[in-house]
Amino acid sequence: MDSFDLIVIGAGPGGYVCAIRAAQLGLKTALVEKDAALGGTCLNVGCIPSKALLESSELFHVMRHRSEAHGILPASVKLDLPRMMSRKEGIVKDLTDGIGVLMKKNKVAVLRGRGVLKGAGKVAVSSEAGDQEIQGKAICLAMGSVPVQLPFLPFDGNKVVTSTEALCFDKVPAHLIVIGAGAIGLELGSVWNRLGAKVTVVELLPRVAPFADVQLSTFLERSLKAQGMIFRLGAKVTAARAEGEAVTLVVQNAKGEEEAITGDKVLVAVGRKPCTDSAGLAEAGVALDGGRVQVDGHFQTSVPGVYAIGDLIRGPMLAHKAQDEGVAFAELLAGKPGHVNYEAIPNVVYTWPELATVGMNEDEAKAKGIPVKSGKFYFKGNGRAKSLGEDEGLVKVVAHAETDRLLGVHILGPRASDMIAEAVVAIEMKASAEDLARTCHAHPTLSEVLKEAALAVDKRAIHG
Ligand code: NAI
Repeated sequence: MDSFDLIVIGAGPGGYVCAIRAAQLGLKTALVEKDAALGGTCLNVGCIPSKALLESSELFHVMRHRSEAHGILPASVKLDLPRMMSRKEGIVKDLTDGIGVLMKKNKVAVLRGRGVLKGAGKVAVSSEAGDQEIQGKAICLAMGSVPVQLPFLPFDGNKVVTSTEALCFDKVPAHLIVIGAGAIGLELGSVWNRLGAKVTVVELLPRVAPFADVQLSTFLERSLKAQGMIFRLGAKVTAARAEGEAVTLVVQNAKGEEEAITGDKVLVAVGRKPCTDSAGLAEAGVALDGGRVQVDGHFQTSVPGVYAIGDLIRGPMLAHKAQDEGVAFAELLAGKPGHVNYEAIPNVVYTWPELATVGMNEDEAKAKGIPVKSGKFYFKGNGRAKSLGEDEGLVKVVAHAETDRLLGVHILGPRASDMIAEAVVAIEMKASAEDLARTCHAHPTLSEVLKEAALAVDKRAIHG
């Protein structure tokens, strides 16, 4: 039986990054994956293909609706959906193949098949090619998560779908109904709206991206409505019936009024749940806490020698959080001081404008009894945003009212996904709003909006 210092089960961003870091630290490492391609949800059916389609659909939208403002009059703009899809698939293939190369480079043994815990450091790897057992001094569970299904609306892979199918519709739906205005609902709703579908989003809570700062979430809702998306907020789906090629949902608003909405596709994007039922966790005695694998500060589960990271455990289900946990765990296993700062994990929704946040918003800080002050600045006061023709949105900086320490930064605007990195570094370095405000920012850049918002904390924005 082959034996390893570390066996990682699951080759998503948490697992493959953990395997690389462990191998860098000299641990003999195996990575077990059931799917043909490495990379997990993120690379195959999540972050990467959705970003490819968001970029293509945004370009289509800009050419159809915004290029004239630049003095560019395209003769005709046509959609070639199969080509758009094959570009996306090419990007996914390049990246997933690249992970295979990284595994070879780092001498990580990739074992194909479903990994199942067999107790006392053993993992069974079963595939069509046969079963084998391997031995590991440590085992890291990194199997990720799957979409949550609504009990009265089972997925059928055709009319009622998850994000996986919504990333590869072979034609633009006439009417896509999206349930859930979180990251997946807003991103994939945006893609198909830009490509010409009627899109209606039904959300249980009274606002879109409910985790975000209220002002930014309201602003985003307005922008998406202006782009043509339809929202039913504070509304729940109470029943569903399939009728030939269509699905009709009964949607009830907060006042109890009912409305029937009919579409040809329904994307259910109401969250994801950890994959805890297929790797022998219950049989091995791995304890769960609220459906997630219970771990201590060192990612140790209730079973000695078995660890878990990423979507399986506490915290947001985000690829970069899983990656950082993978690195921290590998370092701890190698006797180094691995650590994840959960206060400084950015969260991005790649709509237009983009929404990117890190740390606490004002309401969250107040709920914790922390005295806050904040400053905001709008992109419309920024030269670079004006030149881009993308000046919707704002940056809000939240700081401790007495110490000025940065508590959170919230951005709705162009390239917010890239801009947030500066705020993450600042929070990681325990900077104050004053530190950000006094840092020289290149002119003209979008990042000046962040500096102005930091200045506004002390009511001294220059251009506002
Ligand atoms: P989510 O948790 O982000 O949003 C789900 C939304 O559905 C919430 O707003 C919730 O209030 C609503 N909801 C729940 N039950 C409902 C019901 N019965 N009817 C109507 N609305 C309902 O989950 P989502 O969008 O499915 O994403 C899953 C995970 O993947 C999340 O953790 C998300 O952070 C992550 N993800 C991250 C992305 C990114 O970083 N850009 C992109 C896509 C997903």
